[in-house]
Amino acid sequence: MELQPLGPVLGVEVTGVDLSEPLDNERFAAIRQALNDHCLVLIRGQELTEGEHVAFAKRFGDLQVHVLKQFLTTPYPELYVLSNKAVDGKPIGNHKEGWNWHSDWSYYEVPCFGSVLYSREVPPEGADTLFASMYAAYDALDPETKAKIADLKAVHSYSGYYAKAFGDREPLSEEQKAKTPDVVHPVVRTHPETRRKSLFVGEDIVKEICGLPVAEGKALLDRLNAHAVSDDFVYRHKWRVGDVVIWDNRSTMHKATPYDDKAYTRVMHRATIKGTDRPA
Ligand code: OGA
Ligand code: MN
Repeated sequence: MELQPLGPVLGVEVTGVDLSEPLDNERFAAIRQALNDHCLVLIRGQELTEGEHVAFAKRFGDLQVHVLKQFLTTPYPELYVLSNKAVDGKPIGNHKEGWNWHSDWSYYEVPCFGSVLYSREVPPEGADTLFASMYAAYDALDPETKAKIADLKAVHSYSGYYAKAFGDREPLSEEQKAKTPDVVHPVVRTHPETRRKSLFVGEDIVKEICGLPVAEGKALLDRLNAHAVSDDFVYRHKWRVGDVVIWDNRSTMHKATPYDDKAYTRVMHRATIKGTDRPA
C-alpha cells in the first residue's frame, strides 16, 4: 500500500488496495490514520458491490440512514444515492445535492464523522467535487478574527437549507422536519482526535451567528465563508468511475459543481459514518 499526497493542504491517494476484499487491521489502521493526517483519502479503480461498499464504510463506525428515504434506492438503506437519473419516471437519487459549501449533517447535534462516496457513473466533464481544509482556513485567519470568533456559536438549519436548495420541490414533511430541528454549534471547533482547531461554517445551512446584530452576524458569516474556501485551502477532485473518496467532515467542507445533466448521467453512492461527539 502506498500513499501519495493530492496537494499541499488536504487529500492523499492510497494505491495497492482492493476494497472488495477483506482489509486486514493493519492496512485499515493505515487508511484511518491517513484520514486524520490528510482529511481525505482517495482510492481509485474499485469495483465494489453495494454490500462491499457498506462493509468497508462500517469499518469506520456505525452508519447513518438519511431522512430522504426516497433516495435510498439500493437494497442497502445505509446508501444514499446522488444522481440525475430516473427509472420508470422516478428519480433514483437526489440531484443537485451539496451544490453549496457544507460539511455533511452539520445540522445535527452530533454531525457525522465521515463520508464514503463511491462513483458508479460520472460525466466526462463537470461534476468535480471541491474539498476545503478547515484546519488551513482557521490557521490562516488573522489573530484579531481568531479572537473575535473564539467563543461564537452559529445556528445550522436543515429545513432552511432544504427550502433554499430545493424550493421547487415538495417541502419537507412534518416528520422529516421533526427529525431535523435547528442546532447550535461553535464557529471554531477542536477535532476530537487530532486536537487541531478548525473553522466550522457553511453556505446556506448556517443560518445565523448567535448573539450578534443580524447585519453584523451576516457580514461576518459571509466573510468567514468566503475565506474558508479560498483556492489555497481547496483540493478539486475530478471523478473517474470506481473512485472511493473518504473524507473527514470534522475538518473539511465540500461542494459539488454543476454538469450538463441533460447530456450526461451521474450516479454516486454515499455511506455516511456517524459521529460520536458534539462539535466543541
Ligand atoms: C455528498 C456531496 C458532492 C458531489 O455526497 O455529501 O456533497 O459532488 N457530494 O456529489
Ligand atoms: Mn455533502
